[in-house]
Amino acid sequence: MKLSEAVRLLRVKRPPAPYGARTLARCYSIDDVARVARSRLPLGARAYLDTGAEGEYTLHRNRAALDMIEFLPEQPRRVTSVDTSTTVLGQQIPLPIVLSPIGAPRFFHHEGERAVARAAGHAGIPYGVSTLATVPVEEIAAQTNSPLWFQLYVWGDRRDARRAVERARQSGFSALLLSVDTNVRASREREKHTGLDLPAPELPLLTFFEGALHPTWVWHFFASEEISFPNIGPPDHRSRNKIKEMFDGSMSWQDLGWIREVWDRPILLKGVMRPDEAVRAAEAGLDGVIVSNHGGRQLDHVPATIDVLPGIVDAVEGRLEVLVDSGFRRGSDIAAALALGAKAVLVGRAHLYGLAAAGEAGVRHCIDILATELRRTMALCGVRSVKELDRNLLRWRDGGARSAASAGPGAERMAVSFEH
Ligand SMILES: Cc1cc2nc3c(=O)[nH]c(=O)nc-3n(C[C@H](O)[C@H](O)[C@H](O)COP(=O)(O)O)c2cc1C
Repeated sequence: MKLSEAVRLLRVKRPPAPYGARTLARCYSIDDVARVARSRLPLGARAYLDTGAEGEYTLHRNRAALDMIEFLPEQPRRVTSVDTSTTVLGQQIPLPIVLSPIGAPRFFHHEGERAVARAAGHAGIPYGVSTLATVPVEEIAAQTNSPLWFQLYVWGDRRDARRAVERARQSGFSALLLSVDTNVRASREREKHTGLDLPAPELPLLTFFEGALHPTWVWHFFASEEISFPNIGPPDHRSRNKIKEMFDGSMSWQDLGWIREVWDRPILLKGVMRPDEAVRAAEAGLDGVIVSNHGGRQLDHVPATIDVLPGIVDAVEGRLEVLVDSGFRRGSDIAAALALGAKAVLVGRAHLYGLAAAGEAGVRHCIDILATELRRTMALCGVRSVKELDRNLLRWRDGGARSAASAGPGAERMAVSFEH
């Protein structure tokens, strides 16, 4: 037998293309990408990416709750193609996925928001840009034609917040996310153990020494522009100091007044965990809420978002759009959230791992993984479009009693919705 025939029989793979592409090509899940990301980041950046608040109970609860969901597929059912497109805030998007706002993503890859915005543009999905972005909003807007949403932390001096919102508006951002779960900064102990003083990054010696194990990251870190926060003031050290003043606990419903003077596009509350708060947002005329516990990074011991989602969806009765994040790592997680009534799912770490592993190509790869898994889950469930995803397709391993109890005020209807 000729060697070429033997190779064909054995299905030996061709020699790899460029290094980064080869590594990504062997990443079949977000967890695979996460492993590459962790190997590329120095200690401090790794801790910033993965850490949860205090005992990390909520961090782990997010995953544990998603893992409790079981699909009940409708089979046999003819599914020749699957349509994942949907409409969020009046805009049609090809996937029910949004990239979450992240502070200081240039810590994970020197291109930071530029790379993420291009990847979002390639997939045609919205990208939420943080108040603590490390690239000016004008420059981010130049990288993508996809919808951009601006996430706002409202801090003491409202003039800075007003200026930031005006800049986002002029740059064409189409929605404003008001984060309501961060009025004081959480304690993230794994970050503290590395000595990292975030969000005002001042790298301690320990991080520098450990950095020797990650020369590519270190080289790029020093060879590119210094990390600063150019959307909350001039791009200098003063903007870093401002961050410490930001978390002053002074945001209230009254702030909506001045925000509406400078922002006439959709507004969503990010960090909603209670049905009554979502109802209040609807009554205040807001366009949406994002059910979020900040990926387990703020108040510890709050429920998993997937557990409170159905109660919130029921309470608002379609008066505003409900989105969700925290812990989503699989297309099947996204399918479950949509079946429970979410319009779309925001993914934080599930795109940051890609950013850290390979910049724009890594973020694209993560979006592809989630999209492929979502399509496959839908097809295997016998579902042809996101509209067909509903609660009949799911059950909870414990029958749903925990879900109803954990939804909080306004959740009376939930018990009924979960009687399968
Ligand atoms: C490193 C990191 C930084 C974050 N920075 C912000 C931020 O600046 N503003 C914000 O509203 N949320 C921020 N978040 C929370 C995300 O927007 C999102 O709610 C969370 O990551 C979702 O959980 P997941 O990472 O499990 O997907 C951050 C999350 C991470 C992991």
